[in-house]
Amino acid sequence: MPATFFAVDHSLNKNLLLLWLILNLQSLVTMSIMLSKKVANIPPFYVMEVLERAQQLEEKGRSIIHLEIGEPDFPTAPHICDAAATAMCAGNTKYTHSQGLIELRQAIAKKYKDRFNVDITPEQIIVTSGTSPAMLLLFIALINPEDEIIMSNPHYACYPNFVTSTGGVPDYIYTNQDNGFMLQPKEVAAHINPKTKAILINSPSNPTGQVLSDSILRGIVEVAGEIPIISDEIYQGLVYEGDDHTILEYTENAFVLNGFSKLYAMTGWRLGYLITPKEHIRTLQKIQQNLFISTNAFVQYAGIAALEGPQEHVKEMVETYNKRRLYLIKRLKEMGFEIKTEPKGAYYVLADARKFGEDSLEMSRQILENIGVAITPGIDFGIGAEGHLRFSYANSLDNIKEGMKRLEKYLSE
Ligand SMILES: Cc1ncc(COP(=O)(O)O)c(C=O)c1O
Repeated sequence: MPATFFAVDHSLNKNLLLLWLILNLQSLVTMSIMLSKKVANIPPFYVMEVLERAQQLEEKGRSIIHLEIGEPDFPTAPHICDAAATAMCAGNTKYTHSQGLIELRQAIAKKYKDRFNVDITPEQIIVTSGTSPAMLLLFIALINPEDEIIMSNPHYACYPNFVTSTGGVPDYIYTNQDNGFMLQPKEVAAHINPKTKAILINSPSNPTGQVLSDSILRGIVEVAGEIPIISDEIYQGLVYEGDDHTILEYTENAFVLNGFSKLYAMTGWRLGYLITPKEHIRTLQKIQQNLFISTNAFVQYAGIAALEGPQEHVKEMVETYNKRRLYLIKRLKEMGFEIKTEPKGAYYVLADARKFGEDSLEMSRQILENIGVAITPGIDFGIGAEGHLRFSYANSLDNIKEGMKRLEKYLSE
């Protein structure tokens, strides 16, 4: 309502009020259609809705086991926290270079060289406040109206919303338990058309936990030809069987999204980055300058400490996740959930729950309300995951055990 409404003297007679309404009709109509059509049908991020309901129940004293949220239960390592505190106290509280501190960009380039033997320069990197803003920068830069982005379905819940809200159209390739939820190069080839702007991949994957193999990545790059690949590598390093890869091992015609949230247990710090082909740096930098100016300075120092400091804590976290993964898969299978291809990365199990029901949202609601176990409904990740439930093992083994005990009892009843 415009401020003038509140200034109206309520002793005015009805006629005056009517006159006011007529005079303001135009602005009332404008207000009701103010929001963009692009976002009118944006779905909620269901995992957040589950979390918020779970927190509401906790406030009322209910015991809740959280297997919904994709957030490490580990604290950020002390040396990373110290680096941020030291940087803040030393006065690193100003804007930085729009692309990020050169020392952090050098450390990122070194990580890619040391782990994957790929050569990128610090100039190709834009440091952002999380991987999500990096995604926004990229889609704003890439998408013309109606441009299509090929992606798998199931997919990370927010991808289609980034694409549609920047004017594009998601072009889904449905994957399933039978093909291990893997994008197949042949199908990618069949989807490519004149409107295809990019092919989006995510390995290790949220929600499937699957890791794209060397041959699949090679195959996708081959069929992509001139079309760039967008590779979301945020779960890089969280791999329990086999190797993970960066798309940069296979092609330079790629945009890489990555960040510190998952591997370094730094979700709340908001630190990520985008690696771009050289010819697009300037455009992306200009968008970054306009939209975000730069990323928090002392958080960037924390990022340098994460990359350059000791890595034992990361190794320990990976070992712990793996123990939970093996336990969770075993228990879910015992209960009758179908997991044809076991997940090998990230910290998720996407289990086929159709034996228990078709409507994943309703199933997750019932489970939460009845036994206090919070799980993400498959539908959050696209129609390809309907009938499935996503279990996150970013929670302690004790809590996972308790969650499985409650679930087993509930399902058997
Ligand atoms: C696949 C994927 N990409 C991106 C993100 C967003 O990460 P960030 O915390 O860096 O914004 C997430 C968060 O869960 C994710 O699962």
